[in-house]
Amino acid sequence: MKKDFINLDNINKEDLKKILNFGIYSKVNYLNNIENNLNFSNKTGVLLFEKPSLRTKLSFYRALNYLGINPIYFDPKEVGMGGREKISDVAKVLSKMCDLVILRTFRQETIEEFSVNSSVPVINALSDQEHPCQALGDIISILEKTNLEVEKTKLTFIGDGNNVATSLSKAFSLLGGTFIHSCPEGFEIPSKHISKINEFNKLSKGKFVLERDPKKASADTDVIYTDVWASMGQESEEDERKRKFEGYQVNESLLENSNAIFMHDLPAHHGEEISEGLVDHKKSIVFDQAENRIWGQVGVIKYLMNLK
Ligand code: NVA
Repeated sequence: MKKDFINLDNINKEDLKKILNFGIYSKVNYLNNIENNLNFSNKTGVLLFEKPSLRTKLSFYRALNYLGINPIYFDPKEVGMGGREKISDVAKVLSKMCDLVILRTFRQETIEEFSVNSSVPVINALSDQEHPCQALGDIISILEKTNLEVEKTKLTFIGDGNNVATSLSKAFSLLGGTFIHSCPEGFEIPSKHISKINEFNKLSKGKFVLERDPKKASADTDVIYTDVWASMGQESEEDERKRKFEGYQVNESLLENSNAIFMHDLPAHHGEEISEGLVDHKKSIVFDQAENRIWGQVGVIKYLMNLK
């Protein structure tokens, strides 16, 4: 049966660990110039994006190249999926002509409908609700930088309960870590995802905590993480969100209040959710985090294509 990676709802702890280990070991091999002996030159991966991208597009190209898979990219203006062409028709056409589809969409439902109609694996490269590939690169980065098991890691996410927060908190709850969310009222992770997180935490003994005060939330934590207050597609809410998120900026004084490393998935709005230049702070691992997107994606592609 074909496998997909379109959210973190239907994956178990063992498979998530398998993906992460594929990524981690591939990186070690790559850095040691060990050939991966894979020959997928007859395979094609299609990237179909409705929103802009820097890191995700580049890291998928790098991952596909590493695995010898040929990438073909369709930009936000090209296909008109769900408008000019029915989602199901696009899925069926791509299934005939490629081996893997990587989608970035406005709506999670688009990816779900695509997946039902696709006979080849589908990867979510960001939707309004989830960004599961970001979570993979993030966890690889945390393991690399803290030397802690996720079970022993506390991560404080300060900001909007958005796609990035949702996928990362699900990954943490699958693996048994502690995820602390700090946000103003009305910007929590949506309740349907919280139910899933609670379900995972019951099995893994992980913890999810909501702490409104960002100082308290980050005083005794291993990772401080933030993301933009208005995500792609929410541009019209930017001014209102800036007002509501006042007091939730991650800045030097917040970082100095703990021993945590600092993470951001980028793009960052300097002067809004982070103080100007915080990405270059000595506690920041932001750019290594960006690079590790490659290895998270190598991991998930290997997993979906049943590679060893
Ligand atoms: N939450 C952000 C993440 C960008 C990588 C967005 O969806 O725009």
